[in-house]
Amino acid sequence: MRLRNVPNAHEKLSESTNYIRDPQAYKGRWNEYFKNDNPIYMEIGSGKGQFIIRMASENPDINFIALEKSPVVLLQLIKKIPSDGLVNLAVISFDAEKLEEIFDSGEINRLYLNFSDPWPKKRHAKRRLTSPRFLEIYKNILKPGSLIEFKTDNRDFFEYSLEEFRSSGYNLLKATYDLYNSDFLEGNIPTEYESKFHNMGVPINKLFAEYDPKNSKEEVSHN
Ligand SMILES: C[S@@+](CC[C@H](N)C(=O)[O-])C[C@H]1O[C@@H](n2cnc3c(N)ncnc32)[C@H](O)[C@@H]1O
Repeated sequence: MRLRNVPNAHEKLSESTNYIRDPQAYKGRWNEYFKNDNPIYMEIGSGKGQFIIRMASENPDINFIALEKSPVVLLQLIKKIPSDGLVNLAVISFDAEKLEEIFDSGEINRLYLNFSDPWPKKRHAKRRLTSPRFLEIYKNILKPGSLIEFKTDNRDFFEYSLEEFRSSGYNLLKATYDLYNSDFLEGNIPTEYESKFHNMGVPINKLFAEYDPKNSKEEVSHN
């Protein structure tokens, strides 16, 4: 995603009540930030926010976190927040590599990885958000029994991710190479990238992986 640099992006983001400038301060205390004990769902690499803003609007009893490393991209997300505000949405500019600095063990109840950058070159594989080092980081913040939902247009990246989730000990519950012709479409909220690729006729891949260290299953239902 190429966007022109915006000077003082963090200052501009701070004008939004949804933006959290010092997320480290809430480690282990996110329920205090949201002022309730509702579950917390997070999108990593939320881009311009079409998905997470709709999710937060339609699910007031769930808390949502939009985590995105580019503050310039987040300026676009902030503009989409309805003027009456969304008290169940927190927006963070942060690199997923350092998630353990802002979340305690078991603090997150679901992760969404939507159209993450595929980093096709082998020498960049460590940057993929489904590479083994990231899958280990997620285990340190997810509550056992939680789901990760991953969508991508990129078939090679999807095959790689299926394998990495399996070998990292996650339970692959469901997977499809064609979300829009599967049983898993109900309730699907498209992201910006998803709408673009789907409108071009590109099939969308999706998997659901469960982190449950005490209960590893072997079966995957394909559709
Ligand atoms: C291809 S875009 C997809 C955006 C959106 N999820 C969608 O589907 O339309 C990937 C986004 O992930 C962000 N990103 C990539 N690596 C990241 C990381 N390590 N931590 C946080 N965000 C990251 C990028 O800045 C970019 O905005």
